[in-house]
Amino acid sequence: MERSEIFDIAHLRHPIAAPVAPQRLRELVGWLRPSDGARAVDLGCGEGEWLQELLLTYPGITGVGIDHMLPASAVRRAGERRLSDRVRWVETDAATWDDGAFDVVLCVGASHAFGGLKDMLVAVRRHLRPGGQALIGDSIWESPPSASALAALEVSADAYPDLAGFVRAIREHGFEPSYGHVSTLAEWDDYQFSWSGSLVDWAVREASTTEDRDQALAVAREHLEAWLSGARRELGFATFVLHDAAAAGARD
Ligand SMILES: C[S@@+](CC[C@H](N)C(=O)[O-])C[C@H]1O[C@@H](n2cnc3c(N)ncnc32)[C@H](O)[C@@H]1O
Repeated sequence: MERSEIFDIAHLRHPIAAPVAPQRLRELVGWLRPSDGARAVDLGCGEGEWLQELLLTYPGITGVGIDHMLPASAVRRAGERRLSDRVRWVETDAATWDDGAFDVVLCVGASHAFGGLKDMLVAVRRHLRPGGQALIGDSIWESPPSASALAALEVSADAYPDLAGFVRAIREHGFEPSYGHVSTLAEWDDYQFSWSGSLVDWAVREASTTEDRDQALAVAREHLEAWLSGARRELGFATFVLHDAAAAGARD
């Protein structure tokens, strides 16, 4: 199986590809205030749950979901939610894609598409109209990472900031964070166990070949092992709603 098929199966039970509970997602999106006619973009949208919740909350806006491996389920779920005529899905590299300025820019768990948090913030600014709002989520260290966490995640210690460093980076890029959410251990465990559990369930119940079954089980075991023996309690995740600080200052 291709890596993209494995990822689609892993997200069957938890289409939000981040350690964020659906209720927390709704609360975060509720802090955005797009006017009727506004345009939103979701960079690295995956299943598009953030964008779809925004469109469901604000019936007068439209959106674009960008992903270089767009899951078919994103399109299907948008259809089931009667959002098809208000959302455009574009399968392309978010780092180079351009379609003018948006009123709302979403980018959750996809900073690697741009080279990291700082480059993601530059990209968010590039897509955002002056005075617009953004919602971003990214990994942080909850505590200084151990050697086993770094090995499990295959990153260096400077790959992520701590929470204070995350907020500093946001401000350094001309944004002011308003509401923020730090994922709880329960949200992390739910995400990781849904990820590995969906693969195990699929391997046992639905795989049509031994090869596919063994591959799915191997990926699930490796994923769970990396979480339990590696990054659990050390890797964190923070999501913030951002205002364009430069434009807010200009109004004062
Ligand atoms: C961890 S998932 C987050 C998905 C979604 N934002 C969410 O929170 O549910 C990261 C997503 O970024 C996408 N991605 C990674 N690199 C990308 C790139 N260069 N261009 C577009 N999408 C990219 C992946 O395909 C994946 O769907």
